[in-house]
Amino acid sequence: MVFNNLSPFLKLRILNHPFPKDTKSLYFTHWNLNDKQELFTLAQDEEVGTNSGWKPHTTIEDSKNAIEKAYLNSYSYALRLKSNNNIVGHISLLPDQYSLLKIGKNEAEIGFWIGKDYWNNGYISEALTSILYYAFKKIHYKKIWGGCLDKNKVSEHLFIKNNFTYLKSIPIELIFKNKIRTEEKIFVLTKSKYDEIYR
Ligand SMILES: CC(C)(COP(=O)(O)OP(=O)(O)OC[C@H]1O[C@@H](n2cnc3c(N)ncnc32)[C@H](O)[C@@H]1OP(=O)(O)O)[C@@H](O)C(=O)NCCC(=O)NCCS
Repeated sequence: MVFNNLSPFLKLRILNHPFPKDTKSLYFTHWNLNDKQELFTLAQDEEVGTNSGWKPHTTIEDSKNAIEKAYLNSYSYALRLKSNNNIVGHISLLPDQYSLLKIGKNEAEIGFWIGKDYWNNGYISEALTSILYYAFKKIHYKKIWGGCLDKNKVSEHLFIKNNFTYLKSIPIELIFKNKIRTEEKIFVLTKSKYDEIYR
């Protein structure tokens, strides 16, 4: 497991609790380079990449690079179907030093996507329930942040359904889309709110 300069506190918590709990349909694993073909199959899709904030993969080398640079760490997870072990998507909890949002210590940014063939099966809803429990009750983060493009109504719905609060919108440029200017909506869920709801 690659820890990439996490604080000793966080490293210890993650070592004690490496994975969120399985859900009805899914389990969480770390990514490894052998997953590059499966990632490539899912990450070529225009809508998946663009809505997640990255350029859709056009070669298997793109997928290998994404695993090496972004996914090969202790806080990123491949989401696998229990029924056949296939990867259906990705979810991560980026600690403060890796988040592009200006977040505090003991806070993390959540990111996720699901391959288009698997949309609307409730998979990310299942994964969010499990990873939020993990984030607040096992890793003891104080706040979880999330962001989605202004037009991403599905993600917005998912944040609100999971008790996040809309905070603000910030301007961003999609560098891989000829610097198109748009807005990112920022959401946050605090541990105190989560604990109150799930007492
Ligand atoms: C966003 C995404 C991860 C959702 O994954 P999923 O597994 O299909 O999501 P689920 O099936 O768990 O839930 C989808 C929810 O959105 C709702 N929904 C579907 N289409 C919708 C729309 N056009 N507007 C609003 N809500 C919509 C569904 O009804 C469901 O909500 P419900 O459970 O309350 O009925 C997936 O669409 C995706 O990867 N999109 C592209 C990348 C992306 O947007 N990543 C997130 C970046 S923030």
